[in-house]
Amino acid sequence: MFFSSKKVLGLDIGSNTIKAAEIEVKGKSVTLTGFAMGLTPPECLSAGDIIDPENLGMAVRSVLDELNSKRKLVSVGLWGTSIIIKKISVPAMDENLLAEQIKWEAEQYIPFDINEVNLEYKVLKGVSRNQETMELLLVAARQESVMRYAEVVLHAGYECEILDVGGFALANAFEANYGVLSGQVVAVFNVGASVTNFIVIENGELVFCRDVPVGGATYSMELQKSLGISLAEAEAMKLSIGRGEPAPEEAQGALNATHEILQEELSGAVEFFMNTNQSANIVQAYVTGGASKTQGMIQALQQGLKIPCDAFDPFFNVKYSQRAFSDSYIREIRNYAAVAIGLGLRQGGDHD
Ligand SMILES: Nc1ncnc2c1ncn2[C@@H]1O[C@H](COP(=O)(O)OP(=O)(O)OP(=O)(O)O)[C@@H](O)[C@H]1O
Ligand SMILES: [Mg+2]
Repeated sequence: MFFSSKKVLGLDIGSNTIKAAEIEVKGKSVTLTGFAMGLTPPECLSAGDIIDPENLGMAVRSVLDELNSKRKLVSVGLWGTSIIIKKISVPAMDENLLAEQIKWEAEQYIPFDINEVNLEYKVLKGVSRNQETMELLLVAARQESVMRYAEVVLHAGYECEILDVGGFALANAFEANYGVLSGQVVAVFNVGASVTNFIVIENGELVFCRDVPVGGATYSMELQKSLGISLAEAEAMKLSIGRGEPAPEEAQGALNATHEILQEELSGAVEFFMNTNQSANIVQAYVTGGASKTQGMIQALQQGLKIPCDAFDPFFNVKYSQRAFSDSYIREIRNYAAVAIGLGLRQGGDHD
């Protein structure tokens, strides 16, 4: 099994950037051996749904070509509104029976035609609360959008070996770095350009996943509005503030106001999680994503959410090839790389 496993490249297609990672796993040691990143062409993606597979495929090709790996198989992450991830309780039953019953159990939770979705589930062994029921994490993806992701990879000249869910990839990247925190409930916030992914990991298992529609683009739009500048100028100003360069006073006000919007959206999502998961109390949150570098964000989230927040370090335990990367490059990609690393950890034939 070990020798027949196929090696894949992790591919994280965001609305702003495309990230690709090559990971080498040897026993317990995980090493990043390749990484590349490029901009997503505008209007190719909306809320994780692919609108223009051909153009997006070309952009993916140039990122993967830059990676210059021998591998031709890809593990791609799905996000967005065509995926439903939901924890459900079903009567305790034999795993074979469950495999037959799942479609009927799932139907009531899925807003799409059950015959047009790819259905997967995972029994959450670590979090069952009694003997009569079992907890499952249900994952349903619309076949149409699954096909579109595969189509993008084909346009790029590669083959899609694994379609993973972004939330699982983030949880895998977490485990590769911080291990299984037994008995603990932790959150990860991945602050991207258009959305922030919020996941909860309990006892090493992903138990909750939700996106809130706030991210780096919201910061740029607020700067644009309050300073009366173009979106491109606002984006450039945001990055220059991040480098510690001086900026008008209103700019800081706009950033603070956006921190508040983000924090309020995340508070709502955290509250929803708490209300639907009786015992769970998030003890620590880890923050990542391109936009998590925005000045003051992590402190603002910590204060507003009343949860200790820290930057997620995808290189806490994952090593990187010193030959391939300088320390300054690693600093640059540190907050972009988590999902691509999580995807790159998967091996062909591994469908857990
Ligand atoms: N130094 C910085 N300070 C503030 N924001 C930054 C900085 N560097 C990058 N960003 C922002 O990070 C965002 C891109 O992050 P990321 O690549 O994680 O998003 P994405 O995955 O493409 O988006 P999404 O997941 O929402 O589709 C952009 O909005 C960009 O402006
Ligand atoms: Mg993203």
